[in-house]
Amino acid sequence: MCGIVGILGNSSAVPRMMDSLKRLEYRGYDSAGVATVAGGSLDRRRAPGKLSALGDVLASNPLEGNSGIGHTRWATHGEPTINNAHPHMTERVAIVHNGIIENFKALKDELKAAGINFEGDTDTEVVARLMTRYLDDGLPPRAAFQETLGRLEGAFALCVLVAGEDNLMFGAREGSPLVIGLGDGENYLGSDAMALAGLSNQLIYMEEGDWVELTRDQYQIYSAANEPVDRTVSFSQVAATMIDKGNHRHFMQKEIYEQPTVVAQALGRYLDPIGGVVKLPDLSFNLAAVPKITLVACGTSFYAAQVARYWIEQIARVPVDVDIASEFRYRDPVYADGGLAIFISQSGETMDTLSALRHAKAAGQHIASIVNVTGSTMARESDLVMPIHAGPEVGVASTKAFTCQLAVLAAFTIKLASAKGEIDDTQVADYVAELEHAPALMAKILNADQQIETIAQDIAGARDILFVGRGIYYPIAMEGALKLKEISYIHAEGYAAGELKHGPIALIDENVPVIGIAPKGGLSEKTVSNLQEIMARKGKVVLFSDDEVPPADMYAHVAMPTAGDLISPILYALPVQLLAYYAAVEKGTDVDMPRNLAKSVTVE
Ligand code: AGP
Repeated sequence: MCGIVGILGNSSAVPRMMDSLKRLEYRGYDSAGVATVAGGSLDRRRAPGKLSALGDVLASNPLEGNSGIGHTRWATHGEPTINNAHPHMTERVAIVHNGIIENFKALKDELKAAGINFEGDTDTEVVARLMTRYLDDGLPPRAAFQETLGRLEGAFALCVLVAGEDNLMFGAREGSPLVIGLGDGENYLGSDAMALAGLSNQLIYMEEGDWVELTRDQYQIYSAANEPVDRTVSFSQVAATMIDKGNHRHFMQKEIYEQPTVVAQALGRYLDPIGGVVKLPDLSFNLAAVPKITLVACGTSFYAAQVARYWIEQIARVPVDVDIASEFRYRDPVYADGGLAIFISQSGETMDTLSALRHAKAAGQHIASIVNVTGSTMARESDLVMPIHAGPEVGVASTKAFTCQLAVLAAFTIKLASAKGEIDDTQVADYVAELEHAPALMAKILNADQQIETIAQDIAGARDILFVGRGIYYPIAMEGALKLKEISYIHAEGYAAGELKHGPIALIDENVPVIGIAPKGGLSEKTVSNLQEIMARKGKVVLFSDDEVPPADMYAHVAMPTAGDLISPILYALPVQLLAYYAAVEKGTDVDMPRNLAKSVTVE
């Protein structure tokens, strides 16, 4: 998704804007640009491709000015060309935008009919020319910005500079997040706390429909009704130092190896190991009375939801629906009166999931969100927020957020089961002790990653790879397939192991590695027999299992520690993350910013 930064500074804006745009790279982009006001005039530099290309342009053609706006663009309307890169400019305004202006074609036609010409084919340029028209009609900047906002439909975050106004900036949010950062004689705008991490830790998360007029030492926020409003100033936990790779090669590698630490800190916020109980944030509803739970998410977060369904139904005996967010509201779901809908999202801004949340809220469900960004839109629109405390996750491929989501969902399950009287205090204490043991076992798995690296290097040349598991390991298989395909670009699919003989086994030959996830006990015998059917057809089977006596003639068996049923799915996420990581490294892909992907998908 696009990234935005704006600086009303007391020193050259470009170097600090470039730092902020670097911190926004994780959101995914395919062009970048900056604009400043210097000596009353607007000027800009733009480049397709990575920030380094923009850096080269600036090196040969520097941009002065202490007030500036910057942007990393993830193309929605129009190719990632220089002409479509932001900022978009006229003689009078420069603008950067995240989101989609849904009525841009009608506005463009209106402006063309008034004799206004266009350079590119983006929706953003329409906004710049519309505001310019109001300025040309004699409106002062604030009124021109307000009139422009009144004409726009869709989801957008905007940041605007006005020619001749070195100490003025406008921002607006409607569906896409925008954050105000307060400085010492300086003020800032950014897409999120990461963008502002090097500039300010005093943040104001703008609400839906808010817009703001900023100078270096003042700001005034207005509501969608154009009434002056006050918003809370919060202190960001995202320090600039947290957003670096340390001695790791990639953010994803750092975040994989951080998991024992961050899962421990996540659990620490929900478990009382001494008392043997689970602590949830204050609830505005009676958990024991919840008749049904709906879990909604996208991507990796959706697989966390699928794992949680097994836990909740097996331990708390509460019926669960699990839905992909982009499908959820279109199936016209039947809600249970008094039901609880839980939305799982690392970013807390995924538009598909946010739209589903709003649908469930409108239907009167109790709303909970499990997020990594506590200032996010989902968090602010929920009755109950369960933060996962994973720290900033920069790699586009979600790893530590996934295991922290699972840790929080497991803790929630225990609390729910206890509230429902399905488990007694002793069982609660036993589950708490089991969860407390997870970080140590995770560290043990990560310390033995050499074998997985070797296997990954060997299978990285495959065209197709299957992941299979049964029961609660079926979503882990699908997560493994998603991890692999999204960073190595190898086609991978996750299947329920029992499903192979109903079609997918036709794919098997000596060129198709199959990754089996089967801790001993439970359904593992069935899974292993499915894997033997694959080996009988020359399939190359890699088995992740704690079984000391794995079946003979597997291509590889990766020994896993034996653990309880509750925490095993959390543990088995690690080897599939490592497999994907090392396969992508072997293939030389952009591990942290895979092609076509964005960290937070804030468009539907
Ligand atoms: C996971 O590795 C992907 N980056 C993607 O599927 C992601 O999980 C999905 O877009 C949901 O993001 P969210 O958790 O921020 O809502």
